[in-house]
Amino acid sequence: MADENQPKPSSAFEWIGGEARVHALVERFYDLMDLEPAYKELRAAHGTDLASARQKLYWFLCGWLGGPQHYIERFGHPRLRARHMPFKIGLAERDQWLACMDQAMGEVGVAAELRAKLREAFFGTADWMRNTPG
Ligand code: HEM
Repeated sequence: MADENQPKPSSAFEWIGGEARVHALVERFYDLMDLEPAYKELRAAHGTDLASARQKLYWFLCGWLGGPQHYIERFGHPRLRARHMPFKIGLAERDQWLACMDQAMGEVGVAAELRAKLREAFFGTADWMRNTPG
């Protein structure tokens, strides 16, 4: 339940708790991708080493949530759909990505109201990245 006396955070980045919390979320996301059989097709789409994906998703999410633009400073416009073209993204991959992220948000303790908003925003982005039917 929102506390009426708390000032409203100015961005999702501030609301989640800044860089340290975004970092914890990304770490948990890839740990779960590695661990959970439910995300095995998603895991298989990635290389053996997740280190570069961890680093880049962390940089990207800081900016996407309204915080520092670490990703853009290094790589320019994210062009996420184009950058994902080499990987097959159908319904299964989209849904596994979203479920893995939602589980990670739950496990690192993202506030329920923020988690629901982010779930919706992630859905829009992940669905737009589909490049394969089914
Ligand atoms: C909202 C959904 C998603 C977001 C925000 C996201 C974000 C990102 C970002 C920022 C990168 C780094 C891009 C770069 O500079 O090279 C990346 C890489 C990647 N993504 Fe996604 N992604 C999403 C969904 C997916 C899905 C559904 C798949 C399923 C196949 C996927 C597979 C990959 C792979 C294989 C890489 C390369 C990782 C590496 O460098 O080793 N992504 N993603």
